[in-house]
Amino acid sequence: MVYDLIVLGGGPAGYLAAERAAHAGLSTAVIEKRFFGGCCLNEGCIPSKALLYSAKIFDYTKHGEKYGVTAENQKIDHAKVVERKNKVVKTLVSGIKGALKANGAVAIEGEGYITGKNADGNITVSVGNDVYESKHLLIATGSMPVVPPIPGVKEGIDSGFVLTNREILDLQEIPENLTVIGGGVIGLEMASYFNSVGSRVTVVEMLDKIAGPTDREISEILMNNYAKKGVDFRLGCKVVSVENGAVTYEKDGVTESVKADKVLLSIGRRAVTKNIGLENLGVALERGAVITDRYMKTNVANVYAAGDINGKSMLAHTAYREAEVAVNNILGKKDVMRYTAIPSVIYTNPEVGSVGETEQTAAQKGIDFTVAKISMRYSGRYVAENEGGDGICKVLVNKKYGNVIGVHMICNYASEIIWGAALAIEQEMTLDRMKEVVFPHPTVSEIIREAIFSI
Ligand code: NAI
Repeated sequence: MVYDLIVLGGGPAGYLAAERAAHAGLSTAVIEKRFFGGCCLNEGCIPSKALLYSAKIFDYTKHGEKYGVTAENQKIDHAKVVERKNKVVKTLVSGIKGALKANGAVAIEGEGYITGKNADGNITVSVGNDVYESKHLLIATGSMPVVPPIPGVKEGIDSGFVLTNREILDLQEIPENLTVIGGGVIGLEMASYFNSVGSRVTVVEMLDKIAGPTDREISEILMNNYAKKGVDFRLGCKVVSVENGAVTYEKDGVTESVKADKVLLSIGRRAVTKNIGLENLGVALERGAVITDRYMKTNVANVYAAGDINGKSMLAHTAYREAEVAVNNILGKKDVMRYTAIPSVIYTNPEVGSVGETEQTAAQKGIDFTVAKISMRYSGRYVAENEGGDGICKVLVNKKYGNVIGVHMICNYASEIIWGAALAIEQEMTLDRMKEVVFPHPTVSEIIREAIFSI
């Protein structure tokens, strides 16, 4: 049989593409070597949220006094938290398998390898001794953690002293001292969990700020919140070695060390492009990622790529949209991928939600903009629920066109609010149009309305 579409990789890009394509009537197979749901569902977004939710409940029990609630003998059973996390993952993975089946996609479990094109011009992919043929291919093999050539890191991973996002989610005991290398999203979310459950956490970050591209003021507020909770941040510190229960770093030419019972390595991820046979089709790469155009096409006819593999925006929700764009184009419906309104969230407590330009990126691009910065204390619900909270919200507006180009917030529910701002940016809404929108009251989301009316 010749499939209309073979999808290589069953993560968010792959399983969603397979579901959509099969639903639209294309004969579709999706090949997955480890687990359907990919990194996001099995060892990333979802399991970390399960852990963080347990930590949040635990924090409520510890810090309820200021809300008039006291609890005694609070305890967290980390093994039970991990057990529940596994149950959540299992449920959702079986949901994906069910959805693939319900839509008529064939799920193939095994390691796929692109072998090239056959005499009929069809793309061929092998899984063990079986060879599958298809008119189209979508490459969605995702990404894996960057493991730098820092002395001791590889040995540390082998011995279990150094963990990546994969192993840390299954730790059975809470380490007394956890040192996190890299103050990006994974590092901060895990620092948050282990700080809540009692580890002494140190974050060693090479740059002069945490949270990567996040608005500088918001990343400073986030850092101060966690510093108050006891997380030790070492900024401008480049790790030079990992050994003997310690992480050694260099700052301004001086070498220092921090004690560690476990180390989390979270310095970024790289696209998985090796050992999948890309060279057999001549798929072009740039800086280790597959090059895609705005239709998610690669340089090879009928071959598409979506998700972390193209290195553009390593987020599951970007992967979903890229997968839809690829499938629509395969179906002959023109659809274009845009990256200007992709929200990003850091699931710390408080949460950070951002979309669009920051003051820093807008200035770099020479955009003439106004910024409305407002304290979260203008939201009644925020004040009711956050004793002593110091969150802010920023809205950036392009002065020339009057449209909203960026929204950044640090507060509870930011993760659930930010999509509304993405909608406004995606639809190029002007301030005047946004002012006509009715927000429910009392909600934390009203802060966006307060901010735009302050301009
Ligand atoms: P990241 O790129 O977010 O952060 C890595 C950090 O490590 C950077 O701040 C970098 O300056 C620092 N670093 C690099 N080398 C270093 C060194 N030698 N010493 C000290 N610091 C060093 O990468 P992360 O946190 O590993 O996340 C990987 C991917 O997973 C990201 O693309 C992220 O978008 C995605 N992700 C998204 C989440 C979300 O949306 N909530 C949650 C978790 C992951």
